[in-house]
Amino acid sequence: MRVIESVAEMVGLRRELQAPVGFVPTMGYLHEGHITLVKKTREENATAVASIFVNPTQFGPREDLAHYPRDIPRDLKMLETIRTDIVFVPGSSEKMYPAGYNSWVEVSGITERLEGAVRPGHFRGVATVVAKLFNIVQPDRAYFGQKDAQQLLVIEKMVRDLNINVTVVRVPTVREPDGLAMSSRNVYLNLEERRQATVLYQSLKLAEQLYRDGEKDADRIKCQMTDLIEQQPLAKIDYISIADSTTLEELATVKIPVLVSLAVRFGNTRLIDNIILE
Ligand code: PAF
Repeated sequence: MRVIESVAEMVGLRRELQAPVGFVPTMGYLHEGHITLVKKTREENATAVASIFVNPTQFGPREDLAHYPRDIPRDLKMLETIRTDIVFVPGSSEKMYPAGYNSWVEVSGITERLEGAVRPGHFRGVATVVAKLFNIVQPDRAYFGQKDAQQLLVIEKMVRDLNINVTVVRVPTVREPDGLAMSSRNVYLNLEERRQATVLYQSLKLAEQLYRDGEKDADRIKCQMTDLIEQQPLAKIDYISIADSTTLEELATVKIPVLVSLAVRFGNTRLIDNIILE
């Protein structure tokens, strides 16, 4: 496994790589969800590339950039075990955003809702860094988890709108045995918060069950999800959404395919999760 720290070296290396090149961008502190993405990349491509970069431009001023969990030696060991060929680790932010940096990718329409409404500027940071990483690594395919459903839609739209020559591959959410979606943020939960957090997936499964039983009224489904989540005293709901799975427009009547998504706080930790009803 080669670890590349310089942008110029990574760009130059592309010509030597055997195609197809599969790519998994990450912010590190890897968990089973990332490992699944890289394993799939390994299976489907001649060369598997991952990146580790905690991207400052997708964090808001009051978000946890300084405290975002980091352990690069551990990440590299994990990536080596699953036969990653190349890991791009630019390290300092200045390598990605040198002095005078001033170009941004805005994907309008779907970024103002849900996570975008609560985290202004977040998707501008995500789209910009992903576009830069695509230009640096020049992959044939890039792999993203369905857990960050809105991020996935933003990246798919950016790729379409800007004619970027990359196939975006959606990978289903990886869950703990009790249903909690894998996330680097789960390490912040204390034991009791962790126990109560299983309600996120239970509420999504409840929405699915209600829909399968014939309930099509989105507000009634959201009400029942709210009641279930509020049985957990530490849970504070940010939003519950039932939206068109492409435009993210909120729906009054469930018409599949729909994205059922939510954001819930446990103490200082904000968790998101979703399912698609098809
Ligand atoms: O999902 C993430 O970890 C990040 O948003 C990404 C796609 C690596 C961009 O920094």
